[in-house]
Amino acid sequence: MKQLIFLSCLLVTLGTGTRALAHTDEANVPADTYFAMAVTENSHNHYGENLLYLDFQEHIDISKIAPRIVISPRIKGGNITIDGKAKDWNPTYLTTIWGRVMNNYPLSEFYDAVPNEITLGSAWDEDFIYFLVQWEDANHDASTNRNLWTYDGKAWQKKKHVKPNKGTPAKKAVNKGDEVFGKESEDRVFFMFPVRDMQRNFRAGGLGCAAYCHANAELSAVTTEGAIGEDVAAMHTNVPKDKADVWHWMSTRTLPSNTLKDGHLVYGIGDYNGRKADRGDNPTVDNDTKKLKMSKKGQPAYMSYRDLAGGNYGNSNKNQSKFESHDAIPIQKTKFAKGDTIPYSISRPSTGSRGDVTAFATFDEKTYRWTLEIKRARNTGDGNDYQFIAGTGANAPDNPAAIIGDPKRGGQLYLTHGCSACHQEKGQGLYQGGKWTFPRVQRASGATILKTVLQNREMRGAVRSFIADEMKNSSLRIMPDIHISEQEAEDIASWLQQQFTPTGK
Ligand code: HEC
Repeated sequence: MKQLIFLSCLLVTLGTGTRALAHTDEANVPADTYFAMAVTENSHNHYGENLLYLDFQEHIDISKIAPRIVISPRIKGGNITIDGKAKDWNPTYLTTIWGRVMNNYPLSEFYDAVPNEITLGSAWDEDFIYFLVQWEDANHDASTNRNLWTYDGKAWQKKKHVKPNKGTPAKKAVNKGDEVFGKESEDRVFFMFPVRDMQRNFRAGGLGCAAYCHANAELSAVTTEGAIGEDVAAMHTNVPKDKADVWHWMSTRTLPSNTLKDGHLVYGIGDYNGRKADRGDNPTVDNDTKKLKMSKKGQPAYMSYRDLAGGNYGNSNKNQSKFESHDAIPIQKTKFAKGDTIPYSISRPSTGSRGDVTAFATFDEKTYRWTLEIKRARNTGDGNDYQFIAGTGANAPDNPAAIIGDPKRGGQLYLTHGCSACHQEKGQGLYQGGKWTFPRVQRASGATILKTVLQNREMRGAVRSFIADEMKNSSLRIMPDIHISEQEAEDIASWLQQQFTPTGK
């Protein structure tokens, strides 16, 4: 035995590479970590898990799989092809997580996110980390037409948004009857890994991404009617130098480029948007004269050379072509027909650290399931990326079980904990004299509730001093410390999510 160890050490010191040690090289197993992931369904609202555990394994142990634990076994290099097909994944190694509602923006008019299952897998080899994500699309639609330009016979118009198909899982959405409002029609997947976590959110019992997301929700935009988009989505870490790695795959904007948007989250307070791009070119360019600051406003800037050469324009071409940058040419004087389409985004290869994640997805029209595969170098050498390398790993979660909210219990807890005294009987909040005295909480997620009641009070106090004096001086306007469990928060959230009242007043 001793000899074998000696030999292994010798191999390492001789620098023959780790490959020779593949069977005994426990020291090369990446450190276990927590991460967060979410699926965004055709809107800003999303479901997923704010704290999942990634268990890296040298020898496969499927007994570790749990609703909040994803195993990542070592595989032989090159065994996984990033083609959006799951056939190179062993289904017994996958985890099905219970994606709970993570955020339905309190006053947004988007369709609600509804809880749903998400299947997750991971694997690693000498050089790379791999992920698999599969889910049934709530809208039964691939949503690859975000802001498509359509010729109406006279001018180019951005495609209007469509309601979800009737009879789909989205029927569970409370506001399914509303028109989608805002420029949304795209499916997305979000991953977050802690790069530096002095606030200790990514550990057993932590808040995970909930500690960073929508940081301004209680402060600003949400308390105004119809707040949408970036206004309510400010994200940042809460301690100077804390940082998270964020990956954002998008069915319109990154799918054609075989990549995703690789960015990171930095420290900030209040409404500060701490979401930053990694160094390098974006995988897409918006095909919009206004966005590109070109003189002719409100037009697509580029069209497809292939479609032009193929005689597709002027031909009622309803196909939504996706063109690569080399195919994109400035829009030409040509005869367009009613119904001709041009994509909203031009895909192009991203560069630098922006381009180090490969991703591809396919949509199955029969089962309405997306299959997304992701691959990245385990160590990119970039300080804005999480590195999947050996080291001291996080401890496994105290509770790996799925937390599923019980709305009936939640309704009772909402009363017994006295939430109704301030947020009113249906969570609709209190709107007085043109202001929200108590915010509307009807679409708060369990994680948002926990964050509000548990997160470092000092920090929240500091944030509050940034807000209007009126707010910091009035004791009534500070949410009291109410200690509730994760399960109770989820119960209350699941009840609140059923109380949606469109105007919030
Ligand atoms: C004494 C009044 C009061 C009570 C009781 C109260 N809250 Fe609050 N709550 C507030 C105030 C004020 C705010 C906004 C300022 C803050 O976050 O401290 C708030 C903020 C929140 C937020 C954050 C909203 C957002 O958009 O970020 C949530 C969620 C919330 N409360 C849920 C609850 C729940 C659940 C209960 C019961 C367990 C409860 N509150 C009890 C006054 C109250």
